[in-house]
Amino acid sequence: MSDRKTGMRGVLVIDNSALGMGKGGTRMSPTLTVREVARLARTMTWKWAAVDLFHGGAKAGILGDPTSPDKEGILRAFARALANEVPREYVFGLDMGLTEQDAAIFIDELGDRGAAVGLPRQLGGLPYDQLGVTGYGVAEATDAAAATLGLDIAGSRVVIQGFGAVGQAAAARLTQLGAIVVGISTVAGTVADPNGIDVGRLASLRAQSGDDCVLEYGNALPADAALAVDTDILVPAAREDVIDDTVALSTTAKLIVEGANLPTTPTAREVLHKRGIAIVPDFIANAGGIVAAAHSMDARYSPFTVDPADIFGMISTKLRANAVAVLEAADRDGLTPHEAAHQLARDRVRVAMRLRGQVPCTSNVEGVRAS
Ligand SMILES: NC(=O)c1ccc[n+]([C@@H]2O[C@H](COP(=O)([O-])OP(=O)(O)OC[C@H]3O[C@@H](n4cnc5c(N)ncnc54)[C@H](O)[C@@H]3O)[C@@H](O)[C@H]2O)c1
Repeated sequence: MSDRKTGMRGVLVIDNSALGMGKGGTRMSPTLTVREVARLARTMTWKWAAVDLFHGGAKAGILGDPTSPDKEGILRAFARALANEVPREYVFGLDMGLTEQDAAIFIDELGDRGAAVGLPRQLGGLPYDQLGVTGYGVAEATDAAAATLGLDIAGSRVVIQGFGAVGQAAAARLTQLGAIVVGISTVAGTVADPNGIDVGRLASLRAQSGDDCVLEYGNALPADAALAVDTDILVPAAREDVIDDTVALSTTAKLIVEGANLPTTPTAREVLHKRGIAIVPDFIANAGGIVAAAHSMDARYSPFTVDPADIFGMISTKLRANAVAVLEAADRDGLTPHEAAHQLARDRVRVAMRLRGQVPCTSNVEGVRAS
């Protein structure tokens, strides 16, 4: 889409809608490319299928500076250009460069409250990051995965790298479930205590001092020390590629749950697989946000605000089931959990496409003939 008057340039990619309407956030970036949006839309296809929710893959993007004073005019022009597609084939959502306020502009421009999710609370939306939905889901997936491996979460030692939106909520929920959090790091350093860190105190310190909370907690070690702390479970919840071959070869963890996106390198996954260390892949473990987004999609035209308890309940049910399904499929088929999760997602999309008659139906597709 483009608009000569405002200079707006943007793109909507609907990757696959066999499982349901394409859904994925809307980003604004000065370096945006069509290829980038297309790749993100494809990722959304696999994410929805892997968590077994009935949306397809889509993503939208606007080329531009999100801090520009012309932002509102550009967003309005983008919404108008997509008036035929939104909300029937696509619904705006938040991604890099867009805020709750921007979601409000989209619904105003199209005169339709269902045109966007991610609205401010005053317009019926819910602040996912404040609620800690993703970290909560990471903890629920950890509990279910641990049980599958015969580990009792109560009394198990956990190390969490990163104490941001995801890490802090995961630490809080894991503590509630009885785990002993023996290591937590931020970019400023690591706190470690074999008897358990006081997660509540660290959270209060973070509210005042951000990442420096670990220094104020006392006896901080360097940031990278967290990955070497003796533990049963490791939750990387900071950034990508932190679990490399060296960490994979030396960690004492029996289970790794990927709170961050892409925290484990491809070769480290192989090393972990050979060592018999289970991994719950990122798009299974950190899918709490997309489960919450699915809930918001469903509630767009409701006059009632979504009850956070319903969202937490659904995240728990879905993520527990998915973590177990992936570990069991990996075990059964001799695959890494990442391969098993991708296979599960691809199979679900393929079956949906065949059931719709979009691709030829062959006799060896599990689930199609039977139904
Ligand atoms: N927020 C969500 O809902 C969500 C959803 C899915 C995936 N994720 C992914 O989870 C990860 C964390 O997201 P977030 O929202 O919690 O971010 P955040 O910015 O709130 O927190 C990141 C944390 O990681 C720490 N960190 C950064 N580099 C580090 C290092 N080298 N060593 C130790 N700690 C380090 C930071 O100090 C901070 O505590 C990212 O990969 C993000 O893409 C987040």
